[in-house]
Amino acid sequence: MTGAPAMEASLAAVADAGIDIRHALFDRFFAAYPERRASFMVVDASSRRMTDETLQMMFGLAKGDGWVWPLVTELVHTHRAYGPLPIAEYDAFIDMTVAELGAAAGAAWTSECAAAWTGQAEALKAMIRRARAEWQAALPDPATAV
Ligand code: HEM
Repeated sequence: MTGAPAMEASLAAVADAGIDIRHALFDRFFAAYPERRASFMVVDASSRRMTDETLQMMFGLAKGDGWVWPLVTELVHTHRAYGPLPIAEYDAFIDMTVAELGAAAGAAWTSECAAAWTGQAEALKAMIRRARAEWQAALPDPATAV
């Protein structure tokens, strides 16, 4: 449960402020990786799900929820269909998600809160690496490699 109450407070603060962080997040992501924009057919739909699920995975990790690992494996497998996605882009998307949440959270973004999100961001990045390695070992065909 480390950090989970502070993380929940920041999510509530952003919701109370009526801020939908996906807009600034995806603007920032596409500014950093403009060549990736063409991979998205329906940004409005995908930006909702990518943002929500990234936040939920980090919050779930903070609570020790067991569903996070199977969802991460599914996410990594689904994303194989979008072409080879460098691990650096996953890392950047997760870091940008935390940064945009922090920018929107106002006074709820305490040092404890920031540390909790940053710690779970690192845990999620590690889990994505593990899932990619396991899929690579199970499905080693280079044409479908992650
Ligand atoms: C923790 C990180 C991420 C999560 C949780 C996540 C989650 C999702 C989800 C739930 C969808 C929608 C799938 C569907 O509706 O069938 C999606 C779509 C997609 N994601 Fe991610 N994603 C993440 C990172 C990334 C990164 C880093 C990239 C690119 C470098 C990326 C590229 C895409 C693309 C291209 C689509 C399909 C968009 C479309 O067809 O409009 N995702 N993602």
